[in-house]
Order: sequence, then structure tokens, then C-alpha cells
Amino acid sequence: MTATTPSPTNPYTRANPFPARVAENRPLTLAGSEKETRHIVVDIRGSGLSYQVGDSLGIFARNPAEIVDELLQALGLSGEETVSLAGQTASLRELLARQFVLNRPTKKFVRSLAEKLSPGESRVQLQALCQNESELDAYLHGKDYIDLLRSYPDVSFGADELLGLLGRALPRLYSIASGPAVYPEEIHLTVAVVRFHAHGREKLGLASGHLSRQQPSEPHELPVYVQPAKHFRLPEDPAASLIMIGPGTGVAPFRAFLQQRGALGHTGRNWLFFGEQHRATDFFYEEEFLELQRKGVLSRLDTAFSRDQAQKVYVQHRMIEQGAQLWAWLQEGAHLYVCGDAHRMAKDVHQALIEIAQRFGGMSPEDAAHYVNVALAKEEKRYHKDVY
Ligand SMILES: Cc1cc2nc3c(=O)[nH]c(=O)nc-3n(C[C@H](O)[C@H](O)[C@H](O)COP(=O)(O)OP(=O)(O)OC[C@H]3O[C@@H](n4cnc5c(N)ncnc54)[C@H](O)[C@@H]3O)c2cc1C
Ligand SMILES: NC(=O)c1ccc[n+]([C@@H]2O[C@H](COP(=O)([O-])OP(=O)(O)OC[C@H]3O[C@@H](n4cnc5c(N)ncnc54)[C@H](OP(=O)(O)O)[C@@H]3O)[C@@H](O)[C@H]2O)c1
Repeated sequence: MTATTPSPTNPYTRANPFPARVAENRPLTLAGSEKETRHIVVDIRGSGLSYQVGDSLGIFARNPAEIVDELLQALGLSGEETVSLAGQTASLRELLARQFVLNRPTKKFVRSLAEKLSPGESRVQLQALCQNESELDAYLHGKDYIDLLRSYPDVSFGADELLGLLGRALPRLYSIASGPAVYPEEIHLTVAVVRFHAHGREKLGLASGHLSRQQPSEPHELPVYVQPAKHFRLPEDPAASLIMIGPGTGVAPFRAFLQQRGALGHTGRNWLFFGEQHRATDFFYEEEFLELQRKGVLSRLDTAFSRDQAQKVYVQHRMIEQGAQLWAWLQEGAHLYVCGDAHRMAKDVHQALIEIAQRFGGMSPEDAAHYVNVALAKEEKRYHKDVY
């Protein structure tokens, strides 16, 4: 089943999302944190939607009304212009809010902007930038359309012309952080809000910014669909042991795994590695995890708070510290799961696993790499990744 195929268990799809309500929106990071990560509860009552642990929720976001207003003002347009797009007729304001990325300019737009400048130094400079991809990337870093239009206030675009130059907004996926056995009518998410200052203004991620603004009291409609996981599933055997590596928002599916295994009475052991910047402000779901430990659902919890000491400590350091135990669990048939940052963390965790196979399994570097990449991942299907 895919997110585009309706079925009795999933009547709503990416092409026909369910207008859900946000039932809860609270910070997981405490005052003083360098980050803003939020717990979002999406109410799916009445939708007929169902989900499994490992699935993600697709959400369609709206741009903030004030950003749409500022952009229209910078363009000298009212927003009431009627525009047709893919057979749909709506006001320019509504289409800008729902259908387009407004926080990252396309290169097509910048090239068109350069063309429109009157002959002179600015035009020559911007046209030269447009010839050099890396310089253009550096120039655009952290800028949005409003920044660009304010730098070149004499340039104007018609409504249809503008829409032809913008990038279309795509839904964003968030790992589901709840177990359906506990919350059949809610979907919980762990969302790191993209929020930064650049070029004199606060900038927000499209979807994480949208989610951060949702107020439970508002009858706001959040279009959502369930994106089934392909391979990121609990093992079929309820007695199988799990090793879960989930720093940052990567912890989301593991909260779901633990809830589900606890509710279904799975007897397998569960070991969680969690990492964030500071224990005092960024230990997401601390009370819940400690309670699961008390109940015996969470057998082991190892944490790596990277910025609580002079040297960085990451989850892979904890894995290596506990390498003998981790190796023993793997030898006994445990399944290993990794979720979160794909760019650095997942690669380093992968290397740590190879190192553990060498140091604690006595393997040569080649055999250790083969064990992790082939035996564990492909043949025995006990190494699962959901990284982004
Ligand atoms: C399968 C899957 C599961 C996921 N699960 C989760 C999850 O559980 N929780 C979660 O939080 N996310 C998750 N994500 C990521 C999520 O889908 C979004 O990509 C993320 O929230 C950012 O989207 P956005 O629309 O808020 O930001 P966007 O509008 O897409 O903006 C992000 C972009 O802003 C720019 N940017 C960011 N910071 C700066 C800066 N300081 N200066 C200049 N530019 C900057 C970068 O270009 C960055 O790519 C998941 C992704 C996938 C694919
Ligand atoms: N601005 C953005 O565009 C933005 C915002 C939010 C999330 N994201 C992306 O979403 C993903 C998850 O972000 P997140 O907020 O959940 O947390 P994250 O950025 O992955 O950070 C979680 C923890 O992992 C640590 N870490 C950093 N590098 C690591 C490595 N190589 N190996 C192991 N741990 C490492 C961090 O430490 P330190 O921070 O101390 O190094 C922090 O303690 C990442 O891909 C991130 O890039 C992007």
C-alpha cells in the first residue's frame, strides 16, 4: 500500500488528505535550550485513518499570513487577483499561502529578477552571480523572496508571471511518535522547529513553523495522510530484543515502539540510546522513559548529552563504551534501529557498529564491514534505518 492508494484502513491519501485538528502543542525543550522541539498531537478521530509504528505522517503546511502579506506588499499586488492554477481558480493570496514555498527563492526567480533590472551595475552584478551556482547558493543562503524584492524595490512581477517562477510546496513527513495500541485516534509527532535569524528577519521552516503555530483551540484544518514505512517495522517475534539509536527527533519512532511493545506485552528486551545537546533542557520524554524503565518495558537507557562537557559526547560514543553488551545483544539476535540525522549521525553510528564488530567480535576490518553491511542489514534484516 502507498500513501496514494486509498484502502479500507486508510481512506485518506496524499492526493486526498484528512483535515485533522491539532489537539496538543507543547515544547519538549525547556527554557534555556538552544533548540525548539515540540510535541504535537494530531487528532484523527472520525477519519478512519489507522497507522502502525514506524509509519510517518505527511502534512501539508501553510505559509504564515504575515509573510504572504509582506510579499504581496513588496510586489505591489493586492492578493485579490484571481489566478488559475492546474484547473483551480483562487485568489493570489490563497494560492501563495497554500501552494508555494515562500522561504527559499528559486534560481529561476533570481534570473528573472536580474533580467528585469534596469541596465547598470546592480544588473551586471546579479547576472554575474546567476552564472555561478556556488556563488548564487551563497548569496541566497538564508534569504527569502521578501529580502530579494526589498533589495530591488523597482522590480515588479504580475501575478501569473510570479507563480510561474515559484517552487511548489510539497508535504513534509514526520515520524509517528505514538503507538496505535495506546493512541488509536491520535498521532503524536516530535518536531524540531526550523527557526533562525538571517538578513535582519526571523525565518521559519515551512512545515515545522506551521506546526509550531497550531493552537489546539483553533478549529484549524491540518491536511494529513499516513505514509506507511517500507522496512522500519517491529520484528514479528515479540520476544526479539531491540537496540534503538535515536538522538534528537530520531527518538520519535522509538517512543512509538516502546508504547506499542508495552501495550501488547512483548517480552523482548528494549535498549534505547538517546542524545541531545543538554540534559537539563533537551531530555525529551524523560519522565515517560524513566517510567517505562520502572515498568521494565525499557531495559536499558543510555544518554549522550553532547554539550554538557568540554568534549562532544554522541550516541555512538555510548555504543562503543557499552560495546561488549551491545555485541552480546546482537549475537543473541537483537534488531538494531537507527533514526534521525542522515548526514552525519547515521554514518557515524554505522562506523561505530563496524568498530564494535572488530573490537568486541574480534573481526578483521573487512569481516566487520561485511557483517554490518551484508549479514546484519541484508541477509538477517536486523539493521533498520529511517534517516533524513
Ligand atoms: C521519513 C522522514 C521522517 C522525518 N521525521 C521527522 C521528525 O520526526 N521530526 C522532525 O522534526 N523532522 C522530521 N523530518 C524532517 C521534516 O520532514 C522536515 O524536513 C523538517 O521539519 C524541515 O521542514 P520545514 O518545512 O520546517 O523546513 P523548510 O522550509 O524545508 O526549511 C528547511 C531549510 O531551511 C534552511 N535552513 C535551516 N536552517 C538554516 C539556517 N540557520 N540558515 C539558513 N538556512 C537555513 C535549510 O536550507 C533547510 O534545508 C523527517 C523527514 C523524513 C523524510
Ligand atoms: N535547521 C535545520 O534545517 C534543521 C532543524 C532541525 C532539524 N534538522 C535536521 O533534522 C535532523 C534531526 O535534527 P534534530 O534537531 O532532531 O537533532 P540533531 O541535529 O540530529 O541533534 C541531536 C543530537 O545529535 C548530536 N549530533 C550531532 N552530530 C552528530 C553525529 N555526527 N553523531 C551523533 N550525534 C550527533 C547533536 O549534537 P551537537 O548539536 O552538539 O553537535 C545533538 O546532541 C537532522 O538531519 C538535522 O540536520 C535540520
